[in-house]
Amino acid sequence: MHANELLDVVFRWAHLIAGIMWIGNSMLFNWLDRNLIAPGPGASKLSQGKIYMVHSGAFYEVEKKLLEPGELPDQLHWFKWQNFTTWATGICLLVVVYYMNGAAFLVDPSVRAMGQGEAIAWSAGSLIAAWAIYDAIWMTIGKRAPGVATALAFVLLFAAAYGFTLVFSGRAAYIQTGVMIGTVMTGNVWMRILPSQRSLIAATKAGQAQDETLSLRAKQRSIHNNYLTFPLLFIMISNHFPSTYGHHLRFYVLAMVMVGGAGVRHFMNVRYAGRMWMGPALGMAGFAIAGLMILTRIREAPAVTVTDQVSFARVQEIIQARCVQCHSAKPTDDQFVVAPNNVMFDTAERIQAMAARIKDRVYTNQTMPFLNKTQITPQERAELGAWVDQGAKLK
Ligand code: HEC
Repeated sequence: MHANELLDVVFRWAHLIAGIMWIGNSMLFNWLDRNLIAPGPGASKLSQGKIYMVHSGAFYEVEKKLLEPGELPDQLHWFKWQNFTTWATGICLLVVVYYMNGAAFLVDPSVRAMGQGEAIAWSAGSLIAAWAIYDAIWMTIGKRAPGVATALAFVLLFAAAYGFTLVFSGRAAYIQTGVMIGTVMTGNVWMRILPSQRSLIAATKAGQAQDETLSLRAKQRSIHNNYLTFPLLFIMISNHFPSTYGHHLRFYVLAMVMVGGAGVRHFMNVRYAGRMWMGPALGMAGFAIAGLMILTRIREAPAVTVTDQVSFARVQEIIQARCVQCHSAKPTDDQFVVAPNNVMFDTAERIQAMAARIKDRVYTNQTMPFLNKTQITPQERAELGAWVDQGAKLK
């Protein structure tokens, strides 16, 4: 295994584990908050509610409450490293997969031709800018008019995602949007939510009331994070789906999935207020799925159509000329020294076995050859598509 691939595996694995722990914790606490049994008469004034649960062989009795002044326990558990580890391994992955290797996955010359340095500067710079702008909006406008701040943040988020599709390769534009969201979420945790918890602890120790504004701000930021989780999780898996990021309407596909995902989260949130939720939540899921199903079917008119019978000899000729540089047991490409995804076209059987994917990637989505590095022509794409439509025969 090459060093680059090894780093990819290690960071991806850690990223997944940390991400499950972070989002899992945050969902559990959300759920706890919404299922608390309100304190009855005679309960302490500091109590905010109780809950009983059964898990792993016994009962749990959990009470949410403020503490008496000076009552701080010796051992207090925080939940912050799960978030930090998710973000840090995510940034490492961004570097290993998108920045290294000549930024091959970051840049698509047909979107915008630029060098590795310029591409990395755009990517890293926009992450810093995103946090600065988002935070500034909520520290200024957000204080007086949260509705306006929400609308503005929403527009800017989608403007940024759209901007990324004009600068980066489709796949990178999706991931860049995801890293941006993850960075904002992590900024919220470390810059706004944790300080509020520290002030709560300090106030409890000193026997004073906590500064309300800090606590409200923390709550607001944690609601933002809550809404961003579902869209972000889709983006994390999006690079498995070339028909989304490879599509010419890729921004609109992403926008619909993000709105649908956040909508599902919204109705899962309000369900505990006793409001109707299942129908609307399914509706929002349907909206996201419509984005995936309907938009990705809109095709640009094919440049060429082939109606003649295409022989297998012709198919092999095209694949020899345009694909085996990468997809072979011994690739000759300068960047891909092992066959990507273990897809090799060295034998007729291998080509035939991959026929459906070949049509998808080369003809329908046009996401292969990778960045069209081997300069396949529209005629050749159409011929490969026609061969698959004609039954992908070996003659
Ligand atoms: C410059 C290198 C390169 C060339 C040339 C190339 N590919 Fe790929 N191919 C990749 C990379 C990288 C991946 C993995 C990333 C991805 O899926 O986008 C891949 C993945 C694939 C996959 C598997 C992923 C899936 O969707 O199941 C197929 C099928 C494929 N390529 C077909 C082709 C065909 C057919 C050609 C020739 C017309 C071709 N490729 C030319 C680099 C290349």
